[in-house]
Amino acid sequence: MPMRENQQSQDAQRLRDALGMLPEPVAEQAFVVVSGLPGTGKSYFCRKLAEKAPFCIVESDALRKVLFNSPSYSQEESTRLFAACHALIEQLLQDGIPVILDATNLSEYHREHLYAISDRTKARLILVRVEAPSELVYERLGARNSSMANPEDKSDANGEIYRRMQSRVDRIRRNHLAVDTSRDIMPVIDRIIRLIN
Ligand SMILES: Nc1ncnc2c1ncn2[C@@H]1O[C@H](COP(=O)(O)OP(=O)(O)OP(=O)(O)O)[C@@H](O)[C@H]1O
Ligand SMILES: [Mg+2]
Repeated sequence: MPMRENQQSQDAQRLRDALGMLPEPVAEQAFVVVSGLPGTGKSYFCRKLAEKAPFCIVESDALRKVLFNSPSYSQEESTRLFAACHALIEQLLQDGIPVILDATNLSEYHREHLYAISDRTKARLILVRVEAPSELVYERLGARNSSMANPEDKSDANGEIYRRMQSRVDRIRRNHLAVDTSRDIMPVIDRIIRLIN
Protein backbone atom coordinates (compact mmCIF):
# COMPACT_ATOMS: atom_id res chain seq x y z
CA MET A 1 0.00 0.00 0.00
CA PRO A 2 1.41 3.47 -0.79
CA MET A 3 2.59 5.37 2.32
CA ARG A 4 -0.09 8.02 2.24
CA GLU A 5 -2.99 5.55 1.93
CA ASN A 6 -1.55 3.48 4.73
CA GLN A 7 -1.32 6.54 6.96
CA GLN A 8 -4.88 7.49 6.04
CA SER A 9 -6.36 4.11 6.93
CA GLN A 10 -4.40 3.98 10.20
CA ASP A 11 -5.66 7.47 11.08
CA ALA A 12 -9.24 6.54 10.13
CA GLN A 13 -9.03 3.48 12.40
CA ARG A 14 -7.81 5.63 15.32
CA LEU A 15 -10.72 8.01 14.77
CA ARG A 16 -13.19 5.14 14.57
CA ASP A 17 -11.90 3.74 17.87
CA ALA A 18 -12.40 7.18 19.46
CA LEU A 19 -16.06 7.37 18.40
CA GLY A 20 -17.26 4.84 20.96
CA MET A 21 -20.76 3.41 20.60
CA LEU A 22 -22.21 3.74 17.10
CA PRO A 23 -25.89 3.81 16.15
CA GLU A 24 -27.45 0.77 14.49
CA PRO A 25 -27.12 0.52 10.69
CA VAL A 26 -30.20 1.44 8.65
CA ALA A 27 -31.28 0.76 5.05
CA GLU A 28 -31.39 4.40 3.96
CA GLN A 29 -28.66 6.17 5.85
CA ALA A 30 -28.57 9.97 5.86
CA PHE A 31 -25.39 12.04 5.59
CA VAL A 32 -25.93 15.48 7.12
CA VAL A 33 -23.25 18.08 6.39
CA VAL A 34 -23.28 21.42 8.17
CA SER A 35 -21.41 24.40 6.79
CA GLY A 36 -20.70 27.65 8.57
CA LEU A 37 -18.16 29.97 10.16
CA PRO A 38 -16.84 29.42 13.70
CA GLY A 39 -19.35 30.32 16.41
CA THR A 40 -22.38 30.17 14.12
CA GLY A 41 -23.70 27.24 16.19
CA LYS A 42 -22.87 24.16 14.07
CA SER A 43 -21.86 21.88 16.94
CA TYR A 44 -24.85 22.93 19.05
CA PHE A 45 -27.17 22.27 16.10
CA CYS A 46 -25.58 18.87 15.40
CA ARG A 47 -25.96 17.78 19.03
CA LYS A 48 -29.64 18.79 19.05
CA LEU A 49 -30.23 16.89 15.80
CA ALA A 50 -28.51 13.78 17.20
CA GLU A 51 -30.82 13.93 20.24
CA LYS A 52 -33.79 13.54 17.88
CA ALA A 53 -32.47 10.75 15.65
CA PRO A 54 -29.57 8.30 15.86
CA PHE A 55 -26.45 9.70 14.20
CA CYS A 56 -22.73 9.33 14.50
CA ILE A 57 -21.34 12.86 14.81
CA VAL A 58 -17.97 13.26 13.11
CA GLU A 59 -16.74 16.51 14.67
CA SER A 60 -13.50 17.67 13.10
CA ASP A 61 -12.47 19.76 16.14
CA ALA A 62 -12.80 16.77 18.49
CA LEU A 63 -11.14 14.31 16.10
CA ARG A 64 -8.25 16.69 15.39
CA LYS A 65 -7.32 16.29 19.06
CA VAL A 66 -7.40 12.51 18.71
CA LEU A 67 -4.78 12.59 15.94
CA PHE A 68 -2.75 15.55 17.24
CA ASN A 69 -2.13 16.10 20.96
CA SER A 70 -1.36 19.76 20.54
CA PRO A 71 -2.95 20.85 17.27
CA SER A 72 -1.14 23.45 15.14
CA TYR A 73 -4.04 24.04 12.69
CA SER A 74 -1.45 24.01 9.88
CA GLN A 75 -2.47 23.24 6.31
CA GLU A 76 -0.59 19.94 6.52
CA GLU A 77 -2.37 18.92 9.71
CA SER A 78 -5.79 19.77 8.29
CA THR A 79 -5.07 17.87 5.07
CA ARG A 80 -4.20 14.74 7.07
CA LEU A 81 -7.18 15.21 9.41
CA PHE A 82 -9.73 15.62 6.62
CA ALA A 83 -8.31 12.72 4.59
CA ALA A 84 -8.85 10.54 7.68
CA CYS A 85 -12.32 12.01 8.40
CA HIS A 86 -13.41 11.40 4.81
CA ALA A 87 -12.16 7.80 4.88
CA LEU A 88 -13.93 7.25 8.20
CA ILE A 89 -17.21 8.77 6.96
CA GLU A 90 -17.14 6.64 3.83
CA GLN A 91 -16.69 3.47 5.96
CA LEU A 92 -19.51 4.45 8.32
CA LEU A 93 -21.93 5.26 5.50
CA GLN A 94 -20.90 2.08 3.67
CA ASP A 95 -21.90 0.21 6.85
CA GLY A 96 -25.30 1.96 6.83
CA ILE A 97 -24.60 4.23 9.80
CA PRO A 98 -26.17 7.70 9.62
CA VAL A 99 -23.50 10.41 9.89
CA ILE A 100 -23.39 14.13 10.69
CA LEU A 101 -20.20 15.91 9.64
CA ASP A 102 -19.61 18.83 11.99
CA ALA A 103 -16.91 20.98 10.37
CA THR A 104 -16.82 24.45 8.79
CA ASN A 105 -16.95 22.94 5.25
CA LEU A 106 -16.70 26.43 3.76
CA SER A 107 -15.22 25.71 0.35
CA GLU A 108 -17.10 24.09 -2.49
CA TYR A 109 -13.84 22.32 -3.39
CA HIS A 110 -13.91 20.49 -0.04
CA ARG A 111 -17.63 19.84 -0.25
CA GLU A 112 -17.11 18.14 -3.64
CA HIS A 113 -15.40 15.27 -1.76
CA LEU A 114 -18.49 14.95 0.42
CA TYR A 115 -20.82 14.91 -2.59
CA ALA A 116 -18.70 12.12 -4.08
CA ILE A 117 -18.81 10.12 -0.83
CA SER A 118 -22.60 10.38 -0.67
CA ASP A 119 -22.85 9.29 -4.34
CA ARG A 120 -20.56 6.27 -3.80
CA THR A 121 -22.30 5.12 -0.62
CA LYS A 122 -25.83 6.01 -1.85
CA ALA A 123 -26.39 7.94 1.36
CA ARG A 124 -29.04 10.65 1.47
CA LEU A 125 -27.11 13.93 1.51
CA ILE A 126 -28.61 16.80 3.53
CA LEU A 127 -26.66 20.05 3.46
CA VAL A 128 -27.29 22.72 6.08
CA ARG A 129 -25.95 26.27 5.94
CA VAL A 130 -25.59 27.47 9.53
CA GLU A 131 -25.54 31.22 10.14
CA ALA A 132 -25.83 33.76 12.92
CA PRO A 133 -25.51 37.56 13.07
CA SER A 134 -21.86 38.54 13.56
CA GLU A 135 -22.51 40.45 16.85
CA LEU A 136 -23.88 37.21 18.33
CA VAL A 137 -20.95 35.19 16.95
CA TYR A 138 -18.41 37.55 18.57
CA GLU A 139 -20.32 37.30 21.85
CA ARG A 140 -20.35 33.47 21.71
CA LEU A 141 -16.68 33.22 20.74
CA GLY A 142 -15.72 35.65 23.52
CA ALA A 143 -17.51 33.43 26.05
CA ARG A 144 -15.29 30.48 25.05
CA ASN A 145 -12.36 31.75 27.16
CA SER A 146 -14.52 32.58 30.15
CA SER A 147 -15.53 30.57 33.20
CA MET A 148 -18.92 30.13 31.49
CA ALA A 149 -17.32 28.04 28.71
CA ASN A 150 -19.26 24.93 27.66
CA PRO A 151 -17.27 21.75 28.45
CA GLU A 152 -18.73 20.10 25.30
CA ASP A 153 -17.13 22.82 23.18
CA LYS A 154 -14.11 21.31 21.39
CA SER A 155 -13.27 24.30 19.18
CA ASP A 156 -10.37 26.72 19.71
CA ALA A 157 -11.62 29.28 17.18
CA ASN A 158 -11.90 32.90 18.33
CA GLY A 159 -13.14 36.21 16.92
CA GLU A 160 -9.91 36.78 14.99
CA ILE A 161 -10.24 33.39 13.23
CA TYR A 162 -13.91 34.10 12.50
CA ARG A 163 -12.94 37.44 10.90
CA ARG A 164 -10.18 35.84 8.80
CA MET A 165 -12.37 32.96 7.60
CA GLN A 166 -15.15 35.25 6.36
CA SER A 167 -13.40 35.62 2.99
CA ARG A 168 -13.35 31.84 2.52
CA VAL A 169 -17.10 31.25 2.39
CA ASP A 170 -18.22 29.78 -0.96
CA ARG A 171 -21.86 29.75 -1.88
CA ILE A 172 -23.29 26.21 -1.62
CA ARG A 173 -24.13 25.21 -5.18
CA ARG A 174 -26.36 22.30 -4.26
CA ASN A 175 -29.82 22.28 -2.73
CA HIS A 176 -29.55 22.98 0.98
CA LEU A 177 -31.37 24.06 4.11
CA ALA A 178 -30.46 27.22 5.99
CA VAL A 179 -30.69 27.86 9.72
CA ASP A 180 -30.22 31.14 11.59
CA THR A 181 -29.17 30.09 15.10
CA SER A 182 -30.14 33.43 16.64
CA ARG A 183 -33.68 32.07 16.28
CA ASP A 184 -35.39 28.79 17.17
CA ILE A 185 -33.49 25.97 15.43
CA MET A 186 -36.15 23.30 16.08
CA PRO A 187 -38.19 23.88 12.88
CA VAL A 188 -35.11 23.04 10.76
CA ILE A 189 -34.29 20.03 12.93
CA ASP A 190 -37.88 18.78 12.59
CA ARG A 191 -37.68 19.30 8.85
CA ILE A 192 -34.55 17.11 8.66
CA ILE A 193 -36.24 14.43 10.77
CA ARG A 194 -39.18 14.46 8.34
CA LEU A 195 -36.80 14.24 5.35
CA ILE A 196 -35.08 11.15 6.70
CA ASN A 197 -38.22 9.32 7.84
N1 LIG B 1 -29.06 27.80 18.90
C1 LIG B 1 -28.32 28.12 19.96
N2 LIG B 1 -28.89 28.47 21.13
C2 LIG B 1 -28.15 28.78 22.19
N3 LIG B 1 -26.81 28.77 22.24
C3 LIG B 1 -26.16 28.43 21.12
C4 LIG B 1 -26.88 28.08 19.93
N4 LIG B 1 -25.96 27.77 18.98
C5 LIG B 1 -24.77 27.91 19.55
N5 LIG B 1 -24.87 28.31 20.83
C6 LIG B 1 -23.74 28.54 21.75
O1 LIG B 1 -22.76 29.31 21.06
C7 LIG B 1 -21.44 28.79 21.26
C8 LIG B 1 -20.79 28.47 19.92
O2 LIG B 1 -21.59 27.51 19.25
P1 LIG B 1 -20.93 26.23 18.56
O3 LIG B 1 -19.84 25.69 19.39
O4 LIG B 1 -22.06 25.34 18.22
O5 LIG B 1 -20.34 26.91 17.24
P2 LIG B 1 -19.59 26.22 16.03
O6 LIG B 1 -20.23 26.69 14.78
O7 LIG B 1 -19.55 24.75 16.27
O8 LIG B 1 -18.14 26.84 16.12
P3 LIG B 1 -16.73 26.18 15.66
O9 LIG B 1 -16.69 26.22 14.17
O10 LIG B 1 -15.68 27.08 16.26
O11 LIG B 1 -16.72 24.79 16.21
C9 LIG B 1 -21.59 27.58 22.16
O12 LIG B 1 -21.29 27.93 23.48
C10 LIG B 1 -23.07 27.21 22.05
O13 LIG B 1 -23.54 26.62 23.23
MG1 LIG C 1 -18.01 23.40 16.54
